[in-house]
Amino acid sequence: MSIGILTSGGDCPGLNAVIRAAVLTGNKLHGLDFVGIRDGWRGLVEADLMELGRPQVMGISKQGGTILGTSRTNPFEYGGVEKVREVMQSHGMDAIIAIGGEGTLAAAKRLTDEGIPIIGVPKTVDNDLSATDYTFGFDTAVQIATEAMDRLRTTGDSHGRCMVAEVMGRHVGWIALHSGMAAGAHAILIPERKTSMDEICGWVESAHARRRAPLVVVAEGFKLDTMDDAHSERGLDAFGRPRLGGIGDMLAPEIEARTGMETRATTLGHIQRGGTPTAYDRVLATRYGMAAVDAILAERWGRMVALRGTQIVHVPFEDALGRLKTVPQSRYDEAAVLFG
Ligand code: F6P
Repeated sequence: MSIGILTSGGDCPGLNAVIRAAVLTGNKLHGLDFVGIRDGWRGLVEADLMELGRPQVMGISKQGGTILGTSRTNPFEYGGVEKVREVMQSHGMDAIIAIGGEGTLAAAKRLTDEGIPIIGVPKTVDNDLSATDYTFGFDTAVQIATEAMDRLRTTGDSHGRCMVAEVMGRHVGWIALHSGMAAGAHAILIPERKTSMDEICGWVESAHARRRAPLVVVAEGFKLDTMDDAHSERGLDAFGRPRLGGIGDMLAPEIEARTGMETRATTLGHIQRGGTPTAYDRVLATRYGMAAVDAILAERWGRMVALRGTQIVHVPFEDALGRLKTVPQSRYDEAAVLFG
């Protein structure tokens, strides 16, 4: 049996650990062969394939990014199910492991509904996929953001400045919430909760009054109570979605003007998606890769591996789609107790 593996959508640390685990488990225990599909769905519809055996996956679980490359290509814009079927048949590919986020899994569901055998593996630094407690990449992003904030705090303390740290999080504030709590932020601003400038400046002034250098953490998708849409000044991405980023730079001068505190903003951006995965992400990704092979052997097409508590389970694609896993109000309230 020959299995194609692709990584699609935004990359994140841990993708290589999934690939390695699937190839090693499948090959060593079950005699499966693997073929690498370059740059997500693009490589599948264009038959851009690469050798993917044990030598290719040696030592890669600690490497960030993806050895297969990735893209945000939508297979339905390039021949759809007919093209995919043709490429799979002509290259003797029996099934596919698709590692990706919501867009990837939505395409995988459509293809599976039309008879293409696919198993999904969830990935996103944002941790916004329903049906799984955690996606790999999230822990690494939180770790990177926390370390950056620890650094921002020492320079903020030295100068007595307010520091604004902008993190990723298009629709949800998980990275902001976790890194902000870990770094002891004085305010955490997330897309799920609109906030006023008065409230933000209240937290900043309260920390300042205790002679602290305030740290404000803001997710890129955050909206002030006066905003209808998230701040975007960088055009559209390949899916026509606004490219976010810049809300921290927008808030900093406003905080400075209102509080009189010198304020600096730092946007962490793609640094959060790069480099070595944490041990937690490597373990989770490895377990996902192994479970994907189990799902293939059991022919559980149209299902995604997922984490429930400490157990790896298989869930239908539709459970992960359509509804984002947002930060619950109770988790925000818990963190907000320590704001200011
Ligand atoms: O979905 C993950 C994510 O990192 C978001 O947090 C961010 O808005 C987006 O991807 C950035 O995408 P790109 O890498 O295409 O700029």
